[in-house]
Amino acid sequence: MAKLGVNVDHVATLRQARGTEYPDPVLAAKIARDVGASCITVHLREDRRHINEDDVRRIRAIPGCRLNMEMAATDEIIAIAMQIRPDQITLVPEKRGELTTEGGLDVVARHVFYKELTKRFNDVGITVSLFIDPIATQIEASADTSALAVEINTAAYSEARTEKDSIRAMRELENAVAVARALGLIVHAGHGLNYQNVSSVAAIDGIEELNIGHSIVSHALYTGFPNAVATMMELMEKAATRHKSKVLA
Ligand code: PXP
Repeated sequence: MAKLGVNVDHVATLRQARGTEYPDPVLAAKIARDVGASCITVHLREDRRHINEDDVRRIRAIPGCRLNMEMAATDEIIAIAMQIRPDQITLVPEKRGELTTEGGLDVVARHVFYKELTKRFNDVGITVSLFIDPIATQIEASADTSALAVEINTAAYSEARTEKDSIRAMRELENAVAVARALGLIVHAGHGLNYQNVSSVAAIDGIEELNIGHSIVSHALYTGFPNAVATMMELMEKAATRHKSKVLA
């Protein structure tokens, strides 16, 4: 069954809107850990629009909290990551004006670069996950780096507006997970997942972790952070159990 990685970036977005010290993404991370999230994800962006370096360091110091640091492969952020030493790094492409990460890495085009960089992180004990679109050539190129994991971009599925697009995107996700698993990669997935669309993705065999942020932080406004995390975990668990009993039937 897929575990839940909770992305707390948008707790910091709310803090930055007023330049206050609250709400604190570190407190949100502790709550998510207590409710049972398997890791906390933060994206330290070049423009520091939400999470800052101090947040990453403080989350790193929370006992029992596995830290997944999402980041672009720039010299500045690589140096920070080497100092902070998160448990895991998810490499993502980053564009200055984007509202959120748009699309996956082009590992095929920059294969030698990612091969060297993933080895540097592995050598200091950091697991690397490469955020890629559900495309076989990108998965194959990723498997030929030192990355242990890939995170499959679920945006095409979560943004599908017609049933036809949704079915096609789901097939692509299922194929991508199968290809990645066959190549021995650990598979994560995420982007745009919410309380309405998470079940189908959580039911795919072979996904180890779903990284979800915006919808959980939004839901927390109405129901509280612990409840928002717990409800997402319940939906994922139900979807996996339903899928398992269908397979066994
Ligand atoms: N995975 C990756 C690689 C991302 O860039 C993001 C957004 O920060 C997420 C997962 C979480 O996406 P969302 O906030 O839409 O749940």
